[in-house]
Amino acid sequence: MQESHTETPYTALGFYHKISQLRADTWNALKRDLGQLVRQEAGCPRARTLVKAVDVKLTRLEIIEDYHAFPSKEDFRHLWSLFDREEYALLEKVVKRLVRALISESYRRRHVDLSETDADAEDMETLDALNQLRRGHPASNSSAQPYFELLIVDNLSPQEEEVVREAFHNLRRPEDRFVYDVVTVRSFEDALIAVLVNPNIQACLIRYEFPYKSKYNLSALRNYLEGLSEQELENQSEADRSILLSSMIHELRPEIDQFLVTSGDVEATASRDIRHFNRIFYRETDYIEQHHTILRAIDNRYRTPFFDALREYSKKPTGVFHAMPISRGKSVTRSHWAGHMIDFYGINIFLAETSATSGGLDSLLQPFGPIKKAQEYAARAFGARQSFFVTNGTSTANKIVVQALVKPRDIVLIDRDCHKSHHYGMVLAGAHVSYLDSYPLNDYSMYGAVPLHEIKKTLLAYKRAGELDKVKMLLLTNCTFDGVVYNVRRVMEECLAIKPDLVFLWDEAWFAFASFNPTYRPRTAMHAARTLRDRYRSEAYREEYAAWKAEFDALDPDDDATWLERRLLPDPDAVRIRAYATHSTHKTLTSLRQGSMIHVYDQDFRQRVEAPFHEAYMTHTSTSPNYQILASLDVGRMQAEMEGFELVHAQVEAALSLREQLYTNPLLQKYFRVLKNSDMVPETYRESKVDSFYDPVTGWNQMEEAWARDEFVVDPTRVTIAIGATGVDGDAFKNEYLMNKYGIQINKTSRNTVLFMTNIGTSRGAIAYLLDVLIKLAKEFETRWEESSRPERKIIEHRVHSLTQELPPLPDFSRFHGAFRQCADTPQGDIRCAYFLAYDEENTEYLRFDNGALQAEMRQGRDVVSASFVIPYPPGFPVLVPGQVVSEEILAFLQALDVKEIHGYRPELGLLVFTEAALVDPAAG
Ligand SMILES: Cc1ncc(COP(=O)(O)O)c(C=O)c1O
Repeated sequence: MQESHTETPYTALGFYHKISQLRADTWNALKRDLGQLVRQEAGCPRARTLVKAVDVKLTRLEIIEDYHAFPSKEDFRHLWSLFDREEYALLEKVVKRLVRALISESYRRRHVDLSETDADAEDMETLDALNQLRRGHPASNSSAQPYFELLIVDNLSPQEEEVVREAFHNLRRPEDRFVYDVVTVRSFEDALIAVLVNPNIQACLIRYEFPYKSKYNLSALRNYLEGLSEQELENQSEADRSILLSSMIHELRPEIDQFLVTSGDVEATASRDIRHFNRIFYRETDYIEQHHTILRAIDNRYRTPFFDALREYSKKPTGVFHAMPISRGKSVTRSHWAGHMIDFYGINIFLAETSATSGGLDSLLQPFGPIKKAQEYAARAFGARQSFFVTNGTSTANKIVVQALVKPRDIVLIDRDCHKSHHYGMVLAGAHVSYLDSYPLNDYSMYGAVPLHEIKKTLLAYKRAGELDKVKMLLLTNCTFDGVVYNVRRVMEECLAIKPDLVFLWDEAWFAFASFNPTYRPRTAMHAARTLRDRYRSEAYREEYAAWKAEFDALDPDDDATWLERRLLPDPDAVRIRAYATHSTHKTLTSLRQGSMIHVYDQDFRQRVEAPFHEAYMTHTSTSPNYQILASLDVGRMQAEMEGFELVHAQVEAALSLREQLYTNPLLQKYFRVLKNSDMVPETYRESKVDSFYDPVTGWNQMEEAWARDEFVVDPTRVTIAIGATGVDGDAFKNEYLMNKYGIQINKTSRNTVLFMTNIGTSRGAIAYLLDVLIKLAKEFETRWEESSRPERKIIEHRVHSLTQELPPLPDFSRFHGAFRQCADTPQGDIRCAYFLAYDEENTEYLRFDNGALQAEMRQGRDVVSASFVIPYPPGFPVLVPGQVVSEEILAFLQALDVKEIHGYRPELGLLVFTEAALVDPAAG
């Protein structure tokens, strides 16, 4: 009977991106259907329809649950047997218990036996109901044994499966640090699906012979399985297939601990590329050994060395004869006035406040103990070779990296709309700056990112001018504030073909979470660096390069098209992979504010960078780093390694539901237009031709293709909404409507857009609330229009027109003035020289452009040169930097801006510019 139920034409797993919502929703819908069914007269048409609906839902759920430990296959057999026997009342009861156990997650704490109907089970159910109510409350964070699932890949019969599961169950001891249950799958494909759909899986035991094909048709895997032929796989040896499977599991979820159980030629297996296996077990290895090895592996990730050390330290009685009266709460516990600080924060934070670097603690500036370990674990989690904690935000992390790598007069290619910390970093390092322009999105007053063509063109200009050896670094923002994501691998590969030792600094302030999702991860700096290094070391690449080189050498090297119109490949004998990434961990993962990390994948780090890096780190790091920030970074790393996959998946799910509603609700569409991939990435950069990741019929199936191929993609978790049709500008919408009326906080706006960012803390409830608010606002705008008089309508129409049609084009970087340039053929400028030249008052003057004074100077042929950074908010990047020539376009943009905040510009005085005399010999100034 059961068999017939599993034959669905196209499985629900095609909607992998929304799998956990689909799972929860289907269970709830099933419960609802059964609730109705039991109230119907048997056999009536409504009952027949409901029976069919229950059948469909059970079928769908059985597929999903096949990859989860709870409910077990045994539980499902029980459900089907109740269904087949038409015992709908009992089925409803069991499903209710099951849903409750899933929501309250009681299955993580105890065995839930669905066949029980006795009084104990009722008690447990009441307990579950209470737990369900408590979930999400801070006080409910239990310190009980964490739970995970062990995936076993083996072609077992149902009976054998039960035996294995029970064998592992029987090993559980109350003193174990973790508790786990077992999920078994029987094929290669099913193993991959399981790790994709079941975030509870933390360890995987690959055993014996298993076939390739799943019994389901699963489009979710399309991209991962490309190029694998079933035939070839079936012909591979057991060991080869296991090794391939392990490397694919590693690609999807690198954190999973994998173990191989082999029966065959053990020595031969051990000599293969088995780097993704923690350990190989021989067939005879007993369960006890496996059990302990698995628990130890999980513990290795779960450990938080610095957080643990700090907690231990806080328990020790210590006499403080040093700084920090607040340490151990001393200055506040006896205070007559400041005691409420303890009431608010609790005592632990004060017990953990210390300046000690010994006694179990460590020194951030010269780590040797738990901080060192915590940083090593961070490197493992983010796929770096080295990681460093930073307690003053990515603003500081960026400056450290630049100072460590860039000497005065080294040339740095950098996106001009990068974060301001980079511009200041350039000043501090004395870099000669070559600004790169991002493609503009004039309709939304925002920038995209820098096209590869532009980067290659600039590098080529340096090559032709004989200046390439001075180019040290390419610095780009990935992803941008608005969510435009580079094809990091492609950018690095092609740039390395022109300059094989180029250093890359990827500002991933907004992208730390990306390391924990298989679609996002390939577009991170660390992943790209590692995979490129592996690629260039392979024989296959040497062959590819030789063939490419033969073709390339036949072309005319003086023709720009030779370099710009074709894909370039670097010389494997010359190339060095030198990549750095900076993360505002606090922006997208668990960390206290300012908690950030620098991740390094630099083949030359040890020989060439370690010492200057250390000095740069010392330059910018406080000698009193905040221990709570460091501890939170340690915990944030652990959480990401244990459940980052699940949390990021849920974040993506939440954002996709928000987008779906905005794409499809007619009232919302009228006022709030959510920007699609194609709105933010012009067609030339979309090789896949995917306009939108979402299609009303196929769902979110197109996302992977775009992410795998295109030059740029939009991160769907950052939802930019064009609000021009409301007649309200971005800033007013943010403050007057969202914050003041509904307490919704957003940060980024442009003239006619607002950005809603989801993160790993965004719940389905929060999305529902936001949608509710947007619907209320849309109704408000609707009423405003309906009830407005003719003159009022004119005003609204005028505003809408201004916000949607009258958008000042965004200006490109003009150029550095000749006084700050070193070479006529290349664009770099000495920003530091210009910056400090402005320190002497006599070198500068103010010129107003609102009264035409500045324009008059320009008309007379004067190069008017900015003496400061001028940064309007929004968009929040400098339209002028020190040493830059003011252009007509920049003036037009500044005049058209209707923002209140422009840093570096005082309307009553005008722009600060250099006097003509100061520009004659700035170096002397
Ligand atoms: C791209 C980018 N880089 C760096 C930073 C600075 O990060 P932090 O706030 O951690 O100093 C920001 C802040 O918004 C940013 O947007």
